Amino acid sequence: MSRADLVVVANRLPVDRVEGPDGEPVWRRSPGGLVTALEQVMQNLDGAWVGWGGKADLDVEPFEFDGNLLVPVPLSTEHLRDYYEGFSNGTIWPLYHDVIAAPEFKRSWWDAYVTVNRRFAAAAAEVVAEGGFVWVQDYQLQLVPQMVRALRSDVTIGYFHHIPFPAYALFAQLPWRAQVLQGLLGADVVGFQRVADAGNFQRSIRRLLNHPTKGDTVQVPDGDGSRLVIAKPYPISIDAEHFLELARRPDIIARAQAIREQVGSAKLMLGVDRLDYTKGIRHRLKAYGELLADGDISGHDATLVQVASPSRPGVEAYQDLRDEIEMTVARINGDYSTVENTAIRYLHQGYPREEMVALYLAADVMLVTALRDGMNLVAKEYVAVRADNTGVLVLSEFAGAADELGSALLVNPHDIEGMKETMMRALEMPVAEQARRMKTMRRKVLDNDVEKWGRTFLADIDELRRRRADGEGA
Ligand code: G6P
Repeated sequence: MSRADLVVVANRLPVDRVEGPDGEPVWRRSPGGLVTALEQVMQNLDGAWVGWGGKADLDVEPFEFDGNLLVPVPLSTEHLRDYYEGFSNGTIWPLYHDVIAAPEFKRSWWDAYVTVNRRFAAAAAEVVAEGGFVWVQDYQLQLVPQMVRALRSDVTIGYFHHIPFPAYALFAQLPWRAQVLQGLLGADVVGFQRVADAGNFQRSIRRLLNHPTKGDTVQVPDGDGSRLVIAKPYPISIDAEHFLELARRPDIIARAQAIREQVGSAKLMLGVDRLDYTKGIRHRLKAYGELLADGDISGHDATLVQVASPSRPGVEAYQDLRDEIEMTVARINGDYSTVENTAIRYLHQGYPREEMVALYLAADVMLVTALRDGMNLVAKEYVAVRADNTGVLVLSEFAGAADELGSALLVNPHDIEGMKETMMRALEMPVAEQARRMKTMRRKVLDNDVEKWGRTFLADIDELRRRRADGEGA
């Protein structure tokens, strides 16, 4: 097997296994944000990607795809239950999102997490070239940096944490908190979305491990000496130019017009989320339902299109959420729709990027009301495609994107009265104010695209390597 200078390690491979024209299984690039983020970074490098193939017990050999080597890690049904649905999405996900749902602490889940992380680490250690770079992605793989380091001391290791890192008081609940911190500190660079996330991480390091921190660095004891680990924010972004290109495509513009015609004169409010309890969909529906109930808006004035793409259906909290959301949507539609107008168009489906861009172009108001969110790329995608500077973004202050998009209408989604006022303000905002806000936000998004994100992270890695080569022992 050829070895790669850059090895990305992520829970999922950047491809989905689908049925080909003759019924045989083929791989197709998956639409996820992480994939587009990293495909740019990997384009000019001799890269490999280690990840799960998306189906239980799928055991296939490494293969070439678009110039990169993909290395599938097989996972059994039990491992998926305990490592993926269990520890990753039943323990870490709710704990790191401020305990919006109750995390469960199960020893058997932790054991599976350790076992599976070891498998990913072994696969990465086998494929990375001498002195290469291993880039680990996200909360499912927090132990991998340390495990790779133990196997391959010659390589440089990065870790990027796509979700929030919680405040110490919450993180401290985790029975395996020290092991998780040690796992992450196996990396040379640990990246976060927000300044606050990096701060929370450093505070936990000081309190639980007593390692000194200074600025963006942590001093980790190593043999007789110590090793410097960089821990700082690198807010992730989107391929803004690619979204703009889609927004200029005549077929997509025509599709946006068709959507607009469907809703008549009503203002179109849009929500686009994975069906996840962190996204604040319930709060959004509550505020919208009350505006209809109070008579502040009618189905004639506004309609809400809510895309809620299916997510993690094997996890109980997601099943409960789906029931609750669908009951609420049905009630609101039953009470306020007419034969002509639908109050909420609820779509429990995933869509290709082209359809998403058409929806963004058609939407007068974009609602991103997450209770907690690492970044939220939907907010950035909406802003990127609004080239005529119209449209209003309502953005939760608890989404990472709020740090950069301060010109959005910021909301606290727990404050239903505040949400109602902000929605009304968004619906009534004069075009001049829309343009002023949108221009500022667009500049931010276009100047800080995902290519820059990757470049900044890799520049810090290169700097560390240089220092190492110069014998500074960084
Ligand atoms: C979030 C996480 C990703 C994850 C994605 C989809 O964005 O940060 O790591 O891949 O959700 O979730 P799933 O469980 O379907 O991979």
